[in-house]
Amino acid sequence: MPPVVETIADLRARVAGWRKDESARIGLVPTMGALHEGHLSLVREMKARTDRVVVSIFVNPAQFAPHEDFDRYPRNMEDDLAKLATTRADLVFAPGVAEMYPHGFATGIEVAGPSAGLETDFRPHFFGGVATVVAKLLIAALPDIAIFGEKDYQQLLVIRRLTVDLGLPIEIIGGAIVREPDGLAMSSRNAYLKPDERRIAGKLNLVLKGVASRARSGHAIPATEAAGKTALLEAGFNSVDYVAIRDAETLEKIETLFRPARILAAAKVGATRLIDNFAV
Ligand code: PAJ
Repeated sequence: MPPVVETIADLRARVAGWRKDESARIGLVPTMGALHEGHLSLVREMKARTDRVVVSIFVNPAQFAPHEDFDRYPRNMEDDLAKLATTRADLVFAPGVAEMYPHGFATGIEVAGPSAGLETDFRPHFFGGVATVVAKLLIAALPDIAIFGEKDYQQLLVIRRLTVDLGLPIEIIGGAIVREPDGLAMSSRNAYLKPDERRIAGKLNLVLKGVASRARSGHAIPATEAAGKTALLEAGFNSVDYVAIRDAETLEKIETLFRPARILAAAKVGATRLIDNFAV
């Protein structure tokens, strides 16, 4: 099992020890725990690129709205540590809420640009909470590299922006989406799905692939997005927040596919909200 530290001071002391070797490269993998193969792939990717890997496990209250699932978000430290042992992660940083948000906490980081629209239209508090906690994690660990999954594509772009804007000397890399055999993107929230919901959830990736290929074959983008929404409702999703084809670098709306594009979607099956995306 990797050792666990719970305070920023202890994390810094470990990292400082590693930094005595000036050539040591250190990687950070931020997570909220309930680890699955998607998370573990990020840890392995980091192990391949660096000498030491820190995995943070912190269910960040600031990125959940009051009506969201903070209280019931899956937490299982024992399982997580056993899984991380198979990846040879070097250290787990698992702070309590009071360590990350000390009494009187009054600072927030807002990233405009890539935060605009998509997730923000439906979870307006979300990227403020993510940006604030990720900035704190990056500053606490000061890794050479940090990795974030393309599963949360908009989040990855927000974090890249934040890192450049704050001048943090940290390379941000994206990790490929790890999927179940039927193509469903792995997610800690998939644990909420009942068997019939799970079957419907498996169609999200197929619908998006279909929409992407329609767009590639020249169909107008707004009509293609609308057709994707209809297809998801027909597949059994209860509601669709968005199906959007956007510029892959800026997430701005596009009218043609002359630049790299990304299709992104969020939809609910039962009470569970799923997101997914593909390169177009
Ligand atoms: P969490 O949902 O636990 O995800 C942690 C990291 O794993 C994120 O970078 C996410 O994109 C990545 N990830 C999740 N599922 C994946 C999959 N199927 N394939 C590849 N990567 C996957 O995202 C968060 O936590 C939080 O917002 C966090 C960045 C930790 C800030 O609190």
